Amino acid sequence: MIVLGIESSCDDTGAAVVTDAKEILGEALQSQEEHKIYGGVVPEIAARAHLEHIDEIVSICLQRAHIELPEVDAIAASCGPGLIGGVVVGAMTAKALALALNKPFVAVNHLEGHALCARIAHDIQFPYLLLLVSGGHCQILVVKNVGEYERLGTTIDDAAGEAFDKVAKMLGLGYPGGPMIEKMAAVGDDSRFTLPRPLANSGDCNLSFSGLKTAVRKIIESYAEDGVVEHAILPKQDVSDICSCFQMTATDCLVGKLKSAIEYFKKKYPEGEHLVVSGGVASNTYLRGALKNLALQNGLEFAAPPIRFCTDNGVMVAWAGLERFRLGYTSELDFKPRPRWPLDEAAPKAPGAGGVKA
Ligand code: KG4
Ligand code: ZN
Repeated sequence: MIVLGIESSCDDTGAAVVTDAKEILGEALQSQEEHKIYGGVVPEIAARAHLEHIDEIVSICLQRAHIELPEVDAIAASCGPGLIGGVVVGAMTAKALALALNKPFVAVNHLEGHALCARIAHDIQFPYLLLLVSGGHCQILVVKNVGEYERLGTTIDDAAGEAFDKVAKMLGLGYPGGPMIEKMAAVGDDSRFTLPRPLANSGDCNLSFSGLKTAVRKIIESYAEDGVVEHAILPKQDVSDICSCFQMTATDCLVGKLKSAIEYFKKKYPEGEHLVVSGGVASNTYLRGALKNLALQNGLEFAAPPIRFCTDNGVMVAWAGLERFRLGYTSELDFKPRPRWPLDEAAPKAPGAGGVKA
């Protein structure tokens, strides 16, 4: 079974061809550089760039896979959540190919792409506990099966990646912020500043990063004579120390909430064996290390997608499409892309949720 998947929900145009034997036959990815000068993704620019590159990305992917389009069994695309202009480009491309080739179309929830991606690289059985941390999302879930999720907690304000990006922007480190913060943090002192851990004692699995970000802002402001962040002049070592304190505290917040989640998971799903992390922030090796320890201490196996599949890519969409397709879940060609699409509505057969229409 061979599935082509297309990703275009944010600032990465990606395509990949995968098989049910977990082979990645070919892939291509174009990460848009156009947004760097704006310090964040500009939706209209993103949509135009997807439109410009998508055909080429699909052709390069097929060339690398050494296959022709008719050999593909189904065509999948991220159909939300995400920036609607980009989502429409990928969804329409996949639908057009499906129609022209008379092949099934599979609408994939982008978050399900992140949620299932680790399964292409590792032998992970359902159910598993998942920390999904990306630029737009931060959730703790039990992945019970394809299309079946129990959400244990979510952020009440910023997503984890968004917090990394905003802190990086205040420090003048550019966009996306996560990789630069990780690099600077590696030579920083994580005990130099004490930062708050919002919602640490809330008794649930919800997260909040807004107070943490504001505390970092106050520190940076103290370096400016007029108290304006943009005017702050920081010695390089101080930037590293702030990055290190922020990364350690953000990780600690995630670990703290996961401790409660693990307790619940082990009670309700005693057969579950894995703690999985995915999404762009899962590329962070400091976070991966902390989660690995946490899993070990609690008798769980730790797993994460290879680093290059943590940020948005075509493989995660092709794989989630394949997981759906092999269970018989395909989508109608009139499926409407969804800018908002909670993962717990990704049920295989829910009307309009990417499954067969009821
Ligand atoms: O999953 P993704 O590519 O896009 C969304 O679906 O949102 O995630 C992008 C996010 C950005 O916020 C970026 O700063 C963050 O992932 N990120 C990282 C690292 N690499 C990417 N955050 C922390 N450490 C990293 N090494
Ligand atoms: Zn993503």
